[in-house]
Amino acid sequence: MFSITNPHIADYIRETVQQPPWLQMIEERARAESVPVVPVETGQFLAFLVSLHRPRRILEIGTAVGYSTLWMAQAAPPACHIVTIEQDEARGAQALANFAQGKMADKIHLIVDDARNVLPYLDGQTFDLLFMDAAKGQYQNFLAQSLPLLNDRALIISDNVLFHGTFFREKLPRRSRTMVRRLQEYIDWIHQHPQLQTVLLPLGDGLAVSLYTSR
Ligand SMILES: C[S@@+](CC[C@H](N)C(=O)[O-])C[C@H]1O[C@@H](n2cnc3c(N)ncnc32)[C@H](O)[C@@H]1O
Repeated sequence: MFSITNPHIADYIRETVQQPPWLQMIEERARAESVPVVPVETGQFLAFLVSLHRPRRILEIGTAVGYSTLWMAQAAPPACHIVTIEQDEARGAQALANFAQGKMADKIHLIVDDARNVLPYLDGQTFDLLFMDAAKGQYQNFLAQSLPLLNDRALIISDNVLFHGTFFREKLPRRSRTMVRRLQEYIDWIHQHPQLQTVLLPLGDGLAVSLYTSR
């Protein structure tokens, strides 16, 4: 697997993660079917943030087959509710099966559609934690649409912000250039945004963790 840090250190960190066997089975199936899911250490970190922050409601953009959703769900307080959005129908169907397998179906609501269409319809709902892991070039649009839904002191976690370390490659494949430029613009935007306090972490494929202040 790729690594944005020293691969030996990344492997070592990965090996320290204690993952429940049922969740490991879901991860292994996703990887065998080439579904892009968070690395195990990112899942563990999401669970840690959920345990620390104790959100009542979580919004996730980019469910795939629900692996990251389940990392958060199994760490969440009993009354916590998760809304997760995935545009791919087949992945959504597998996610529902995985939520049932993890006995978490009652706390997760999956919406199968493009998040850009869904977010305006969540008006009136509020969230304490947002995890973004969908089209990287759309992060700024997704977050601009999501900010009105966030409670004061909500956490925002954006995945893949260091995207395989591509920022430092002199020659980028043409198909990656726009996405990498948009990710860099997104990183600048969240750092300059007056209502966000952001740190970048070299975990997994790079995470931005932002704290939102509503005033
Ligand atoms: C990296 S995968 C998500 C992995 C998942 N968070 C996990 O770690 O288990 C990204 C997913 O976002 C979905 N996606 C991309 N653009 C989207 C959009 N505009 N609206 C909803 N889903 C989108 C893709 O279909 C894909 O399944």
